[in-house]
Amino acid sequence: MSIIAKNLSKTFDGGKTYALKNVNLTIQQGELIAIIGLSGAGKSTFLRAINGTNPAGTGDLQVLGVNVPQLKTSQLVGLRKQIGFIFQQFNLVKNLTVLQNVLVGRIAYAPLWRSLTGIYSQEDKSIAKKALDSVGLEGRYYDKARNLSGGQQQRVAIARALVQEPKIILADEPMASLDPKLSEVVIEMLENINRERNITVIVNIHVLSLAKKYAKRMIAFRKGEVVFDGPPSELTDEKVEAIYHVDKKAMDEL
Ligand SMILES: Nc1ncnc2c1ncn2[C@@H]1O[C@H](COP(=O)(O)OP(=O)(O)OP(=O)(O)O)[C@@H](O)[C@H]1O
Ligand SMILES: [Mg+2]
Repeated sequence: MSIIAKNLSKTFDGGKTYALKNVNLTIQQGELIAIIGLSGAGKSTFLRAINGTNPAGTGDLQVLGVNVPQLKTSQLVGLRKQIGFIFQQFNLVKNLTVLQNVLVGRIAYAPLWRSLTGIYSQEDKSIAKKALDSVGLEGRYYDKARNLSGGQQQRVAIARALVQEPKIILADEPMASLDPKLSEVVIEMLENINRERNITVIVNIHVLSLAKKYAKRMIAFRKGEVVFDGPPSELTDEKVEAIYHVDKKAMDEL
């Protein structure tokens, strides 16, 4: 089992805002899941909870066999080694080469002196190059990250997650900075990774058509609660309307 959430809740503003509310979910190893919902619905909070980045809320959250809210910092390091995170803004070091950026994903496997000095083993370099080849960036190893297009930078970020040899990849709106064509390339790549390597992939996505096309399971959050959980075929227009409906009170508050 990859992830089990039981009555998981998380509040902000001294309990006034529910970012997650009584979330109950079971996610099997190897699933590809798209998370949808309005801005502020709790999508990023859910991913951060899985990664142990949020201060603990209430309820249980088992990830790869450990209960995340109870982990000490040192144990969190062990968990995060198994979880790749891909961000909207790529989070590359622009001044480093493509290869160096990907090698960052090997840090958890390198002895401390190596990661401090930035000297990586031949084996790590070869793993990193293979990952770059697998996302179509062969021949770009020594380019500075800043000289790549947005879509290419996001592929570097995917390669960096891959060399971690993760069991789970969490992607928080990875195509939000990309044009529609590149967005599709990125989700296609995530789908490939999921299928070929049996990595659980959870992707927050605001393009509904792409989510429906690629994910086998969709989970919708609204005000922190799971309001839909099922295959794209069950996501009717009425359900979409309920997920994305902006009520008058919320509009007035904008
Ligand atoms: N660090 C924080 N401090 C205070 N409130 C927060 C914090 N992080 C999240 N929240 C609140 O929790 C709720 C859920 O936020 P979250 O970022 O998870 O939403 P989201 O679905 O990812 O939205 P978006 O689509 O805009 O990225 C929101 O009401 C948000 O304001
Ligand atoms: Mg978010």
